[in-house]
Amino acid sequence: MKNKLLIIGASGHGKAVADIALKMDKWQSVNFLDDNEAITFSLGLNVIGKSTDVIEYIEDYEIFVGIGNNTVRKKLQENLLANGASIPVLIHPNAVIGEQVEIEVGTVIMAGAVINCCTIVGQGCILNTGATLDHDNLIEDFVHISPGVHLAGTVKVGHGSWIGIGSIVSNNINIHSECKIGAGGVVVKDLSETGTYVGVPVRRVRE
Ligand SMILES: CC(C)(COP(=O)(O)OP(=O)(O)OC[C@H]1O[C@@H](n2cnc3c(N)ncnc32)[C@H](O)[C@@H]1OP(=O)(O)O)[C@@H](O)C(=O)NCCC(=O)NCCS
Repeated sequence: MKNKLLIIGASGHGKAVADIALKMDKWQSVNFLDDNEAITFSLGLNVIGKSTDVIEYIEDYEIFVGIGNNTVRKKLQENLLANGASIPVLIHPNAVIGEQVEIEVGTVIMAGAVINCCTIVGQGCILNTGATLDHDNLIEDFVHISPGVHLAGTVKVGHGSWIGIGSIVSNNINIHSECKIGAGGVVVKDLSETGTYVGVPVRRVRE
């Protein structure tokens, strides 16, 4: 393990990620890269370069992508992995993780989140504040589960999907890749095609 951490993205989500890294107390230093030159420090931590500079830090730093947008996060993380970067998993000390849970690299588990037993969370995911995943869920890569979302047991969420704040997904539901669920949506049937879904229960409003 390297003793320095570099977070790409110093705005809202990046700051929340840095806060978790500080609380984990695993790294001697935590810094940011950000493409906005106006941001020179964030959460009291220095911004030491731009995202395009990242390759020069790969030898000395563990690197984490602190960008909320699933597509951007995926692009950056895949580039890092292709270049041999060491990417940690970040878990807030006040998250609850059950037995036989697997969490892959580049995923952040925020404060108050709960993952019940036998659930798999892929790479580059965000399990945001106070969200819960019950038993036997499968969360594919680069998914964002927003704050306060609750997934019942045996839910599958496809690659790149975004479950909006406060949504609820009933048990044994499959959500297709690249879906967006609007804030407060309730999913009670499989979503078998990509699209934006809103409401209670959700209906598809965009492809
Ligand atoms: C679903 C969402 C992504 C749609 O955004 P969009 O593609 O810009 O769509 P629009 O705002 O044009 O909305 C499309 C329609 O769905 C409705 N709609 C949008 N979000 C809705 C929601 N959460 N619940 C119910 N209806 C909603 C709009 O009123 C609109 O209806 P209309 O066509 O009858 O006027 C967005 O509204 C949303 O809910 N985002 C989640 C935000 C979130 O979770 N943030 C937390 C980040 S940590």
